Amino acid sequence: MARVILVYGSTTGNTETLSKSVAEGLETLGVDVAVKNVVETSPEELKDYDGIVLGSSTWGMGELQDDFIDFEEGLKSLDLNGKKAAVFGPGNSMYPQFCKAVDILEERLKGCGARIVVNSLKIDGDVDPMLNEAREWGKDLAQKL
Ligand SMILES: Cc1cc2nc3c(=O)[nH]c(=O)nc-3n(C[C@H](O)[C@H](O)[C@H](O)COP(=O)(O)O)c2cc1C
Repeated sequence: MARVILVYGSTTGNTETLSKSVAEGLETLGVDVAVKNVVETSPEELKDYDGIVLGSSTWGMGELQDDFIDFEEGLKSLDLNGKKAAVFGPGNSMYPQFCKAVDILEERLKGCGARIVVNSLKIDGDVDPMLNEAREWGKDLAQKL
């Protein structure tokens, strides 16, 4: 059974809320998932898992959530060949760079050699009505691991 790490960065709690639903979806299909806040995770830990899920909101002018900035920097030297990966995040389409952090993290993971196995999940606005969608995305991901 695939072992998965889900790392999230969240300023006001929305990505954290989504993370719980994504994890529920993964667990429904029997995936063993470790959910961790990015502030308590080092990039090297990703090497210990078969699957990598990253969740970040977007801030500033299309930037990563604050806590993710150093982590993403640390990913640059990492070899993630053979790993399966997926990225999600909340944002708001009022901003010109909608969910740009999701795209930044996808590109970084690909650059490290990981394979993106499902289309990213981008949630526009309030996350509460979208928790079922996040759960379903987790289930879909579970089938690709
Ligand atoms: C000052 C500010 C800047 C933001 N910039 C963006 C942005 O560039 N793109 C985007 O899609 N969302 C942007 N957002 C929306 C946040 O990503 C959104 O509120 C998200 O749900 C926050 O998630 P978090 O609580 O997990 O950090 C911004 C919000 C604020 C308050």
